[in-house]
Amino acid sequence: MTNRGNARTPPGPNGLPVVGSLPTYARDPFDFERRMHREYGDVVRWKLPGGWMYHLADPDHIEHVLVQNNGNYVKGEAFQETLGPVLGNGLLNAEGEFWRRQRHLVEPAFHPDRISTYAEMMVDASERGTTGWRDGETRDVHAEMTALTLEIVGRALFGVDLRDESVRVGEALEVVMAGSEFSLTDLLPEAIPTPGRRRFDAAVETLERVVARIVRERKRNPTDEDVVSMLLSARDEAGEGMSDRQVYDEVMTLLLAGHETTALALTFTFFLLAQHGDVERKLVAELERELGGDPPTMADVGDLTYLERVVQESMRLYPPVPGIVREPVEDDRVGDYRIPAGVTVSMSQHVVHRDPRWYDDPMAFRPERWTDGFRESLPRLAYFPFAAGPRRCIGDRFALLEARLVLATILQEYHLELVSSPALDLRPSITARPKNPVEMKVHEREGSRWDVSQSEVEPAMD
Ligand code: HEM
Repeated sequence: MTNRGNARTPPGPNGLPVVGSLPTYARDPFDFERRMHREYGDVVRWKLPGGWMYHLADPDHIEHVLVQNNGNYVKGEAFQETLGPVLGNGLLNAEGEFWRRQRHLVEPAFHPDRISTYAEMMVDASERGTTGWRDGETRDVHAEMTALTLEIVGRALFGVDLRDESVRVGEALEVVMAGSEFSLTDLLPEAIPTPGRRRFDAAVETLERVVARIVRERKRNPTDEDVVSMLLSARDEAGEGMSDRQVYDEVMTLLLAGHETTALALTFTFFLLAQHGDVERKLVAELERELGGDPPTMADVGDLTYLERVVQESMRLYPPVPGIVREPVEDDRVGDYRIPAGVTVSMSQHVVHRDPRWYDDPMAFRPERWTDGFRESLPRLAYFPFAAGPRRCIGDRFALLEARLVLATILQEYHLELVSSPALDLRPSITARPKNPVEMKVHEREGSRWDVSQSEVEPAMD
C-alpha cells in the first residue's frame, strides 16, 4: 500500500468555468503539455470537462504507474471513450482477467522465433511496394508507408493480401483518428449527430467490412499460422470458444495498432534523414558495407547497429504514440503528490523524450547519442515509445524488425528528398500523425545493384 500521508495536491492552471483548460488544450495538446511542464514542474493537474487530468513527466513517477504499481491502474474512461467505438473489447482496451487471458492467447504470434519468420516477407513487400517508384517523381511518403505496413501486417498476422484495401483503410483511419482528437464538439451530447460523428460512424463501418472479410476468409480456410485461426480455435478451461464479436475486436485492434504506428515511425525517419544528409550518408555506408547491395535478411539485422540507433533516435523525437493515459482505481501517491482515484493520469513520450535533463540538445537528431553507456545512464522510463510493464506494446519486436528491414531495403535503392514543408505539423490524437501529406521526391541511387523485379511473391490469399 502506498504511503499517502502528507501528500499535496499538485499545482496547475485554474482554467475557465465548466470547460476548464479544454480550449487551450484542444488547440495544441503538445504545446500545452510542454508549457505546463515548464511552468509547473513534473506533476501538474488541469481541469477538463470530464474531470481532472494529472500530467506526470518524471520517469520514476511514470515507472511507478506503468510498472511498479500497475495493478492499481486501468486504462479508464478517457481511453475507452476514445477507442471503445472502434476497437470494442480488443487487447488494447480490455481490462483485468479478461485482458490477461486474451494477451496470453495472442502472445505466441509475437514470439521472437515466430517474428523472425516474417523477415523475408517484410523485405519482399518493401521491394514490391516501391517497384512503381520512378526517378524524379514525388510521393506522399506517409501514404506509401501506411499502404506498405498494412500489407505487411495483413500477410504476417492474418495471411491475407490487403493491398486492394489500402486506400479505403487509409481514408477510414484518417477519419477515425481525427475523431479521437480533442475538440470542443465533444461537449455536445452524444445523441447529436454532428457531421464529424456521421463520418466517424461511416469510417468504422468501412473498417468493420475489411475485418469481416479477413475473418470470413480464415473461417473458410484456416491455417496453422495466422492469428485469426488461432483465435477462432482457442478454448478456455470450460471448453468455450471466443464469440465472433471478440474475434472481430482482436482483429480490428491488431490491424490498426499493427500498421499505423510503424508507418508513422518510418515516415518520421525518412523525414529526418532527408534533413540530415550526414546521418543518411553514414547509414547508407553501413548498408553498403554490411549488405553489399543484397536485400537484408534476419541474420543481417544484428549487424546494422547504426540503423538501430537511427530508428531509436527518430522514435525519441517523434514518438508515434505521443502519450499514454491511465486511471487509478484507488488513491495513489507519486513523490510529494496525491493522485486521487478516478482522475486521468497522462504521461507524454513527447514531453519526456525532449527533456534536456535526459537528452543533451534535445531537439537535435543525433543517432550517435545512443551508445550502450548512454542507454544505461538514463532513468528507465526516460525513453518509452512502446510503454512499459505488463501492458507494454505486444508488437514492439515486430515493429522494430519491420522498421529496420523496410528502411534497409528502400534506402539502398532510393534517396528521398523532402518537397513539403520541413516544419512537420502533427495532429495530436492517439497517435501523432502529420496533418498534411509528407511529399518527397524519389531519387534512384546510382549503382544500386539489386533487381527488384526479380522478387515476385505469390499472393497469400486464395
Ligand atoms: C513503432 C510502432 C509501434 C509503437 C510506437 C507502438 C506503441 C504502443 C504503445 C505505447 C502501447 C501501449 C498503449 C497503452 O498502454 O495505452 C501499445 C500497445 C499495443 N500495441 Fe503497439 N506500437 C507499435 C507497433 C505495434 C505493432 C506492429 C503491433 C501489432 C502487430 C502492435 C499492437 C499493440 C497492441 C495489441 C497493444 C495493446 C497491448 C496490451 O494492452 O496488452 N503495436 N503499442
